[in-house]
Amino acid sequence: MTSSHLVKTIPRGVRFSTLSQLRSQVQQVHQDSNDADPIDPPTPPKKYKHAPFTEEQKAFLDRVIRVDQAGELGADYIYAGQYQVLSIREPALRETLKHMWDQEIHHHNTFNKLQVERRVRPSLITPLWKVGAFAMGVGTALLGKEAAMACTVAVETVIGGHYNDQLRVLAQKFDIPAEDLTSGEIVKGIESQEMTNFKEMIRSFRDDELEHLDTAVEHDAEKAVPYWLLTEVIKATCKAAVWTAERV
Ligand SMILES: [Fe+2]
Ligand SMILES: [Fe+2]
Repeated sequence: MTSSHLVKTIPRGVRFSTLSQLRSQVQQVHQDSNDADPIDPPTPPKKYKHAPFTEEQKAFLDRVIRVDQAGELGADYIYAGQYQVLSIREPALRETLKHMWDQEIHHHNTFNKLQVERRVRPSLITPLWKVGAFAMGVGTALLGKEAAMACTVAVETVIGGHYNDQLRVLAQKFDIPAEDLTSGEIVKGIESQEMTNFKEMIRSFRDDELEHLDTAVEHDAEKAVPYWLLTEVIKATCKAAVWTAERV
């Protein structure tokens, strides 16, 4: 191919400067983006004002806080009792027990705080929950680590299920109407931040309880003798305690 042939095949007007080619490309892209649909300016987030809870909703929330506070107090005292015995008898378990106990302390403190904030009266038989739970913790731990873990399986099965029931009611009965503060329109299906946080808290506690259940199974809960009797008696006790704490 001769040099004269090369010159003839290059279209007129094309420059050989890479920089200028780049610049024109940039300008073209810029032009294209200007020709495209204009970008909508960001819309400010909508603000809503939720209607107050109905009497029925308020009563349900009060009951949830009262029974969950009593339940978490119970869990705190059960682990305290188990820890007293097993941290000495089963030092290998010390860290695992402490981890679960710390989580229960956090659950317990959170509900204590909510109880004060929302002015929910505590269960009237709180001293009984403390003594009963501590005795259950010490008693099962004295039977052995397997019995203590079987106790955890029973308690966490009931409490995990109990939290799930509460989440179901919160999902079904708390679609609270909200006023769009810009348009004045009343809308449904918009959850308040308060309700989102509350549900998220219960969900995260429920997950902790199910983790405790798994831990207990991993640590030979099912080898406890008699496992079935032990877990069924403790489950029945927990269910009776939940029923009572919701009401008294
Ligand atoms: Fe808990
Ligand atoms: Fe737990």
